[in-house]
Amino acid sequence: MYADLAGKVVVITGSSTGLGRAMANRFGQEKAKVVINYFGKEEQAKEVQQEVIKAGGNAVIVHGDVTKEEDIKNLVNTAVQNFGTLDIFINNAGIENEVVSHELTLVDWDKVISTNLTGAFLGCREALKYFVEKQIRGNIINMSSVHERIPWPYFVHYAASKGGMKLMTQTLAMEYAPKGIRINNIGPGAINTPINAEKFADPKTKREVEKMIPLGYIGKPEEIANVAAWLASSESSYVTGITLFADGGMTLYPAFQAGKG
Ligand code: NAI
Repeated sequence: MYADLAGKVVVITGSSTGLGRAMANRFGQEKAKVVINYFGKEEQAKEVQQEVIKAGGNAVIVHGDVTKEEDIKNLVNTAVQNFGTLDIFINNAGIENEVVSHELTLVDWDKVISTNLTGAFLGCREALKYFVEKQIRGNIINMSSVHERIPWPYFVHYAASKGGMKLMTQTLAMEYAPKGIRINNIGPGAINTPINAEKFADPKTKREVEKMIPLGYIGKPEEIANVAAWLASSESSYVTGITLFADGGMTLYPAFQAGKG
């Protein structure tokens, strides 16, 4: 637990499921006030709201599409109207779909880029606007992926969005460091969430993925939420502009594990 997170106001995009949900819960345990943004079912968001409250935090839910400027502005406004300020903004919403690259439509390319990269930029921009105006030494966390480093055939739009996120975060971290604002990425490996539930439901695929992870298992959402809590806390006060890979070693070239090559 991080004492300084108690009472902090945190917005988490796409937090009715998966990693967003786990982070909302973790911030609830930290006694933070959480704006739960959802894009899917309201019922799920309400469940997460109850979980956060039960854990000891406070929470409101708000529907919103991260590709829409007005919806992102509304997330910051919701935080301020309900909880009086904004301290932490987590750009977590993201999508992926598998397509042979020469058959990828412009519509699908745009959809992934606008959700994963442009949506995260809009979240950063609106949070930064508020932090600068109110002179808050705020904190931004962007949910990237091991695929900001590892190329991913059939997911070129996804890999491009996360690769873009890497330099977006580094650039913004440099630009806003003089104001004491910190911006970091988390780079998860393979984590058990709805985004890849179908993939991991197939035991053969699951085994193949596990072979790419030196620690030998698919990560739990809580293991990413732990990283988010640390990055949001003052325990990481000297850390900005990094991607913290939480991937069981996936970025370590596991094919070399047996010592050959
Ligand atoms: P998920 O599918 O449970 O979560 C994605 C969330 O984003 C959903 O709640 C969805 O409703 C929301 N969302 C989608 N489009 C949106 C939009 N336009 N506006 C607002 N919200 C929208 O999957 P997961 O795994 O929790 O993904 C969260 C983030 O973690 C994503 O950015 C993903 O790329 C990233 N990630 C996940 C990994 C994994 O293995 N699960 C690995 C690496 C990165």
